[in-house]
Amino acid sequence: MASSPFGADGDNLADSASDRSLARTVERSAQLNTEIAADPGRFRVLTGDRPTGDLHIGHYFGTLANRLALQRQGVETWIVIADYQVIADRDGVGPIRDRVHSLITDYLAIGLDPKRTTIFTHSAVPALHQLMLPFLSLVTDAELRRNPTVKAEHDATGGRPMSGLLLTYPVHQAADVLFCKANVVPVGKDQLPHLELTRVIARRFDERFGRLDADTALFRAPEAVVSEAVAILGIDGHKMSKSRDNTITLRMDADTTARRLRAAVTDNERQITYDPEHRPEVSNLILIGALASGRDPDQFAADIGNGGASALKRAVTEALNEHLRPIRARRTELDANTDAVGAVLAAGNRRANQTADTTLAQVRTVMQMNYQQTSSLK
Ligand code: TRP
Repeated sequence: MASSPFGADGDNLADSASDRSLARTVERSAQLNTEIAADPGRFRVLTGDRPTGDLHIGHYFGTLANRLALQRQGVETWIVIADYQVIADRDGVGPIRDRVHSLITDYLAIGLDPKRTTIFTHSAVPALHQLMLPFLSLVTDAELRRNPTVKAEHDATGGRPMSGLLLTYPVHQAADVLFCKANVVPVGKDQLPHLELTRVIARRFDERFGRLDADTALFRAPEAVVSEAVAILGIDGHKMSKSRDNTITLRMDADTTARRLRAAVTDNERQITYDPEHRPEVSNLILIGALASGRDPDQFAADIGNGGASALKRAVTEALNEHLRPIRARRTELDANTDAVGAVLAAGNRRANQTADTTLAQVRTVMQMNYQQTSSLK
């Protein structure tokens, strides 16, 4: 390390190496999007959410829009509601029943179709977790400890000791992806180290334990589609997060949305221009209005011209409430029909269990641990 030709120390080297690999992943991800559009039947997508709070418009215009687009293209999609992951870095589960229920209601309200998208909860799929045992044997503690996302999440807990589950949750997440043999995982950049680990686990499983069939590995290495997530800020101009109470959630009503937007931070310039670098708060509002009305941000800003912040806020409120109106109406209908939401989850969990049971049986066969069926299943 000390004699690096670049004169950089180890950390800088590691950073530039990971920058390069990030650039490659982003490039490959664009290509993958083209391949998916051309031949959606070749792909199975798995993605997931931690049920820690209500979905907000940042999720909606980012990851959820992406899931809807995949569904529209006809790609088979699985969504794990990662309930066990909630306890990786917090003491309790919170009001988890309500949150899981609300999450599924939001999924359905925005148009995810349970016939085409399998929605399931971690905790209902025992065989998925059993994959974690052999997977844990394939990684070293050093590999786990240097995971940058785990480090960042741990730092964000403010001195709370790292739980064993937080340290190993990327392996658990590998099981989420591999149990259903997904080959594409749409993720934010922060999740890329986990996907890399998933690929490593798939490869090492093949090397150490072998295959069912000489020509194909049991687990295929999944690839990332890095969401070009439009980063929507909160109404205070900071990262949108529940703890800052600066979000607009999908389940809010129109009046609350209007009130929140009226309180949004802006600046004193009357002329409204889209300039994210110099006018982040104003530009964020413009972006929300533009996304909600399907228009170009510059055009949205030009229409307001020198109307100032109050005209901007009125226009954004109208566009957003208009866009969310049918979604909120569906939500209200679904809220009155809790059985339907429960049935969607039951069906998703059933499908996830069938798949996880099949995969676990294959793993046991490969590992020679299917003692009941010694010679028949080879
Ligand atoms: N860790 C992800 C998040 O916090 C959620 C998640 C759980 C996930 N399992 C997954 C994402 C598998 C992609 C693939 O957002």
